[in-house]
Amino acid sequence: MKIPVCALVLVALVQSLTFSQGLDVSNGFNSKLDWKPPSLLLDPTFVNDKKAILFIFSQPWCGACTKLKANFMQDGEKLLDISKDFLLINVGGDDNNKFGGEFAPDGGYIPRILFAEPNGTLRPDIKNPANPDQYAYFYQSVDAVKAGMENALKVLVEKKVPEAKPEEASTSTPKEAEKATDKTSEL
Ligand SMILES: *[C@@H]1O[C@H](CO)[C@@H](O)[C@H](O)[C@H]1NC(C)=O
Repeated sequence: MKIPVCALVLVALVQSLTFSQGLDVSNGFNSKLDWKPPSLLLDPTFVNDKKAILFIFSQPWCGACTKLKANFMQDGEKLLDISKDFLLINVGGDDNNKFGGEFAPDGGYIPRILFAEPNGTLRPDIKNPANPDQYAYFYQSVDAVKAGMENALKVLVEKKVPEAKPEEASTSTPKEAEKATDKTSEL
């Protein structure tokens, strides 16, 4: 299994499988998006080797979630393109209880979005760029989520490409070469 989400989470998720089946896995966040239930991460035949993982946590009784869901029903298609680079895991209702405290780095408020590496390594350093200091995983609109997803891809790709190739720099325009040099010195 390629997704080493922590063992405790996995064990707990097994218990929730029966509750997840047959329900709308979008949990109201627009079924045009390719939402997957957390139980997918338990499927031994499932391998996610490329896509960053987005976890969204919500509850049916939460007002801020209801507002965000309404925004997703209206504007969610704005995410169709960028969401192709993500595995979208939708955690609603009782499934929330199956995720440990590492999925609530600055509190268990909802709605809450966290990102993980394709291999399942959680990345709590990837916060909502609009409010990174407080409720850093809280999003109020599709536009904010989109900006967060763009930022997540940027952060994850930067990490994946640690060195600039010298031959690339020589074929670049002076401006691009300068940028490449700056980037290298940052790393
Ligand atoms: C997951 O991928 C990241 C980035 O490629 C890497 O740093 C990390 O060690 C990997 N973790 C596991 C458990 O394979």
